[in-house]
Formats: sequence, C-alpha cells, structure tokens
Amino acid sequence: MTLLVQITDTHILPPGEVLYGEVDTALHLRQTVSRINRFRPLPDLVMVTGDLVEQGDEDGYRHFMELLSPLGMPVYVVPGNHDNPALMSRVFADTTYFPATASPFQYAIEDFPVRILALNSRSEGSELPTFNAQRLQWLQDQLERSDKPTLIALHHPPMKTGIELIDMGGTAWFQDLKSLLNKHEQVKLVICGHCHTDLCGRIGQVPVYMAQATSHQLVGSRALTVAPAALIEPGTPVLHQFIDGEFLSGSNAWPPNLEQERIDVKSGRSWEDLKQSMRGSRS
Ligand SMILES: [Fe+2]
Repeated sequence: MTLLVQITDTHILPPGEVLYGEVDTALHLRQTVSRINRFRPLPDLVMVTGDLVEQGDEDGYRHFMELLSPLGMPVYVVPGNHDNPALMSRVFADTTYFPATASPFQYAIEDFPVRILALNSRSEGSELPTFNAQRLQWLQDQLERSDKPTLIALHHPPMKTGIELIDMGGTAWFQDLKSLLNKHEQVKLVICGHCHTDLCGRIGQVPVYMAQATSHQLVGSRALTVAPAALIEPGTPVLHQFIDGEFLSGSNAWPPNLEQERIDVKSGRSWEDLKQSMRGSRS
C-alpha cells in the first residue's frame, strides 16, 4: 500500500505578505501541514502539484520550505505557472522536493510500491499549459523503462474541465500525452491542480483528480463571460491510496478535535461494542 497526500496551489509569498491584501496563504499552509501530521496512519509522502509560490521568487520558496518543514514524511513538488523551475532546482537542492536539475525539469520517484512521474506543464510567458516534444520524449522513455504501476503528477489539468477560464488553453496541448498514456496501461492515475477547485475526469482511460487549492478557492460560473470570485478558505488535502492495484482518492478532513469527536467517546460505548452492533447477525 502507498498513501500519498496531495496538496496544491499554496501560493506562498515572502514572510509577512498576504495575497490580494486579504488571503493569508502562509496561515492556510501551516494549518494544512498540521492537519497532515495528524493523519493516522501517517502518509508515505506529500506531493504539491504546483503554484508553490505566488511570484516565483527565492524568498517565497524559502518561506514555503520553512512552512513545510514540520511534515513528518518526504515532500515532492512540480512547477506551476507561478513557479520558476530553474530557481526551484537551486533553492530545493538540499531537500527531496525537486530532484530535477535541468530542462525539462521532470523526474521519477522510485522509492514506493507505486512509481511517481513528476511532469512540467508550465509555459514561458503564459499561464496556459505546454507539454512539448522534449517533455513528451522524457515521459515516453520513462514509461518504456518500467511496467510498475505509475502515478503522474503535473500542474495543469490534462482534460477539458467545462470551466471556460481553465479551458482557454485548449485541448491540443495534451493530445500527444493522451495518445502516449493510451499505450501504457501501468499509468493508474493523473493528479493536478491549477483550477483552485476539485474535479474528477479522465485523460483517455486514466482517471484525473484535480484537487482544491490550499491557498483559496475559485467559485462562480463555468462561463468565461463572468469572472470568478475567491472563497478565502484552504482546500482539504487529498489522500490517494494505492491498494489492490488501483488508486482510491478523496479529500481527507482531520480536525484538531478529532479525538473528542470520536463516536466511542461521544456515545460512551466501547469501539469493540459499537463494531459488534454494526456486524449484527453477521458476526
Ligand atoms: Fe494556482
């Protein structure tokens, strides 16, 4: 079994700054890190699917590292449209975060029962996605090297979302990726962020899970005629559990007062007794 926690779009600023004058992204990440450390069992790793910082700056990345430092498991990241992959590789050089030192700034994690391939969908000079021939060739080489069950992480959703603001990037950029995945059945799941809202879809036969943002959510019409609004609350971390050869994915809320809220504590009955009553005549 592998337990992977996904968070995304943390949009960290240098210490003391808040996003849009009102979103305390550092507070939201600190609360999220604390929540993940309470999960039982503890996850095997955390993957942050891009937009780690707001401005692609070194102070932001150092603040991001400081905020993640209490996590009790390895952390990995992929670049989003707000990120600077070359700077990430330098600033994160002494961490597990980003073991990619040169273009195309993609890497493989081989330490778990599931293989993880971290991709780069960032464009230079645009927020819209790119997956160029060099990145595609790298992925093809990796997929031909091993049949091990594989999870792919990238920032932009490689699917039509029905949210016109996100679909401005068109569908052409992921057609070659889709064709490649169709030839490699070991890819079990694609995870992404970018949209600051959660959505499940597919690229070919592979499920795609797009997670809520840790910084703030975007809400509003799916049509481009109306601008979205920001909902200033952190999204819930997503737990991707690899079990019996497949992934099960869902948000994983874990409030600070969980122990007091347990049904055995609140009901005054032992957990063994409660389980027995659930089994009923099938015990
Ligand atoms: Fe974002």
